[in-house]
Amino acid sequence: MSDDRNFYENNYHFDDDIVAPGEERLWHAIKMLEPLDGTSFLDLGSGVGWAARLAGERGHAKSVVGLDFAFRALKLGEDSIPGVLRVQGDGTRLPFQDNCFDRALSFGSIEHFPDVVQGLRELGRVLSPEGRAVVVVPNFYVRTEQPRELRLSYYGWRSRFTEAGLRIVATSADRGPAILRDRRPARIVFRAGAKMLSFVPGMQYQFAFLLEHDHQA
Ligand SMILES: C[S@@+](CC[C@H](N)C(=O)[O-])C[C@H]1O[C@@H](n2cnc3c(N)ncnc32)[C@H](O)[C@@H]1O
Repeated sequence: MSDDRNFYENNYHFDDDIVAPGEERLWHAIKMLEPLDGTSFLDLGSGVGWAARLAGERGHAKSVVGLDFAFRALKLGEDSIPGVLRVQGDGTRLPFQDNCFDRALSFGSIEHFPDVVQGLRELGRVLSPEGRAVVVVPNFYVRTEQPRELRLSYYGWRSRFTEAGLRIVATSADRGPAILRDRRPARIVFRAGAKMLSFVPGMQYQFAFLLEHDHQA
């Protein structure tokens, strides 16, 4: 098992994610994909699978699939969050046919892939020609405990999407987790600072990009 995967299987806080899903942050991003009614929906790097569940329950997507490489996330999700088809796999080599999803979301995951552009290309490959995806990724100053994370500005992300043959349709902001999500003082200070910074243009905690195929590319 790779060191990256080992970290998620053994150290990542999936147990907390089961009880504190950050539902409104997820829904804010999913809503950018409306209409979802009757669509097939992929949650790429799904963790325990809350976003996929919301897309089915609140968005009325017809089929919802969550893909993650961590068995522990899938298992915890399977036990507590029903209604999602869970698939174990690597986000840079998706085990799906071309064009098989109408909608896709990747929330805080693609920046942790070993090859981000390849992950975006795979996302594009499985998205139907008229399909749309939302990719939520952090601003350059965000730091987490995860072993690998690509840190880019808005313009850095934009060039990665272009490289992967995707076009930005709209951009929104994710202002980050609740300040008191956990009680570690350093994290509280960081999150409070990030919340304030998020009101400065270009300094949002995370960007939520609505993407489609760039048919001109
Ligand atoms: C910060 S968590 C986000 C999880 C979920 N999207 C959420 O919002 O709660 C990052 C997720 O990416 C997954 N991940 C990291 N690298 C991956 C890869 N190469 N292929 C598939 N999943 C990966 C991790 O297992 C983890 O579940």
